Amino acid sequence: MLPHFFPHLPEASTMARPVDYLFWFCVAVLVFFTALIFLCIFYFAIRYRRRSEDEVPPQIHGSLPLEIIWTVIPMGIVAVMFVWGTALFIRNARPPADATQIYVTGKQWMWKIQHADGKREINALHVPEGVPIELVMTSEDVIHDFSIPAFRIKKDVLPDHYTSLWFTADRLGKYRFYCDQYCGMGHSLMRGWLYVMTPDAYEAWLHHGVQAQTMAQAGALLYNRMGCVTCHGTGKGPPFAGLYGKTVKLADGTTAVANDAYLRQMILYPGQKIVAGYRDIMPTFKGQLSEEEVLDLIAYIKSLGSKPSNTGE
Ligand code: CUA
Repeated sequence: MLPHFFPHLPEASTMARPVDYLFWFCVAVLVFFTALIFLCIFYFAIRYRRRSEDEVPPQIHGSLPLEIIWTVIPMGIVAVMFVWGTALFIRNARPPADATQIYVTGKQWMWKIQHADGKREINALHVPEGVPIELVMTSEDVIHDFSIPAFRIKKDVLPDHYTSLWFTADRLGKYRFYCDQYCGMGHSLMRGWLYVMTPDAYEAWLHHGVQAQTMAQAGALLYNRMGCVTCHGTGKGPPFAGLYGKTVKLADGTTAVANDAYLRQMILYPGQKIVAGYRDIMPTFKGQLSEEEVLDLIAYIKSLGSKPSNTGE
């Protein structure tokens, strides 16, 4: 087994060991070549030292085989690091389609978490063991970065964008998460605990206490309260049933996929993309909805299904 260099830093996700193997491979290569170079320096310094005042060393004209060897071998090693690192990067960048989504909003200086069924927490994140989880993250103000060292993953959290970070926790326990991007005075306080629970314990935790509205239910209330229904329920605006995940034709002839980022843009900057067949009449909801409310609305639209219904169009 690999040495536990950081005994306080357990490997608690399916990503942790692969990242550590690559890390220790790189460390091994560096240590080997550093040692080799130092040994050569000492050996040559002694072996080829000047032995008398009038000794003149012979001229050397280089060696082609030697040049080839010390070009090809390092290139091969660096290529291994590149391919290995890229494979891990791609794996890390692609959440599995069946991942459970949990929503993370960063702000100076706290982490606000929403679970789809409505449970909310601050500076704490409960997840089930062995289930792929995708964190859909955004920021209310500046750039933050969500980092879980025990899982060996981190990702920037940006205002006006959704970024996603996924993992499968594979060890029960309690682990630290941090903000990893300097974001002002309270940056060092922007951290919390991640609890990996058995799926049963997680379900019990999720449904313990006062039953909150699900995100979709909260979104449905907003849909009525903010007046969305006035247009989107009457045909003046595009209908939402079956919209999620669909490819939408836009007035300028291009198309867009109705994913989280698209829906968020349409709610906050409706003039930027006009759906073909509709007029540019929607007011912006920028400043009127919090990031969490935008997520609730998206959850509501999602809950209306991802296939066109017969009342849809
Ligand atoms: Cu948020 Cu540092």
